[in-house]
Amino acid sequence: MADIDIAPTPSTEQPVAPATVIVFGNEKGGSGKSTGAMHVSAGLLRLGFSVGCIDLDNRQWTLSRYVENRRATAERDGANLPLPELAQIARSGEGTRVVGEADERKRFQTAIAQFSRDCDFIVIDCPGTDTFLGRLAISLADKLITPMNDSFVDLDVLAEVDGLNGKISRLSVYAETIWEQRKQRAAQGAKPIDWIVMRNRLSQIHARNKQDMERVLSELSGRLGFRIAPGFAERVIFRELFPRGLTMIDVLEAGDAGDRSMSHLAARQEVRSLLNALQLPHRVPKRSQS
Ligand SMILES: Nc1ncnc2c1ncn2[C@@H]1O[C@H](COP(=O)(O)OP(=O)(O)O)[C@@H](O)[C@H]1O
Ligand SMILES: [Mg+2]
Repeated sequence: MADIDIAPTPSTEQPVAPATVIVFGNEKGGSGKSTGAMHVSAGLLRLGFSVGCIDLDNRQWTLSRYVENRRATAERDGANLPLPELAQIARSGEGTRVVGEADERKRFQTAIAQFSRDCDFIVIDCPGTDTFLGRLAISLADKLITPMNDSFVDLDVLAEVDGLNGKISRLSVYAETIWEQRKQRAAQGAKPIDWIVMRNRLSQIHARNKQDMERVLSELSGRLGFRIAPGFAERVIFRELFPRGLTMIDVLEAGDAGDRSMSHLAARQEVRSLLNALQLPHRVPKRSQS
């Protein structure tokens, strides 16, 4: 992992910094949030950092299942697989909305407090709908990553685009939610959210749609204040690794699954490029300080 730009800095006598919070959010299912969350977590673990994963998607629990599959693989094969901590925060079944939200907030804050103390990074996977927990996560994000399938249908989560002239006609509710969170943080004097849109399932052929998406996204990035990160291409391997809880990073780093095809190397490079594009702060791993 030598070419990743966030290699741990050597331990010195420094106060223990709270964990950096990375949130995967997009109010659309199937855009690659859980896949992205697991790949970023595995990349950070392989660099020697400790990671706390928080799964907020209690309809799917995809990230949790990914982590559990990984644990099972590690136990079964004795594989050298670094594992994250995991917390699942389900939506509340408590009485009124106010009571339910207070309950959700309490459980969320307990997980954040624990991981913030014990881990270097917290990776939060949001559900594909607007929820109270999802908004709480965004409000704490140092980095908010919005993966997006490479189609105008998915672009809708950011803005409506006029079908005839390709111009942006209206911002989406999601974009406004983030705008609102940014305003609140600015009012509290908190650090701004670094919002990053990552294109996913990019077609590997040169297509008109791909270029059109590029143009509209770059226009939107200026208006909404997000950065565009290099994404993942459409690759079957991203789906095949889930049952074993592995990622592209593990496959080659651990010498697992033998096939070092060009496609695997390219996929690993995509994950590394994403990690670099996040511009994560250099940190001293907490484990090396204790
Ligand atoms: N780059 C990719 N290439 C191929 N399949 C992908 C890719 N990214 C995600 N997938 C697949 O797409 C589906 C949705 O991805 P997922 O990460 O679960 O999205 P979300 O969490 O946003 O609902 C999953 O079956 C996943 O394996
Ligand atoms: Mg998911």
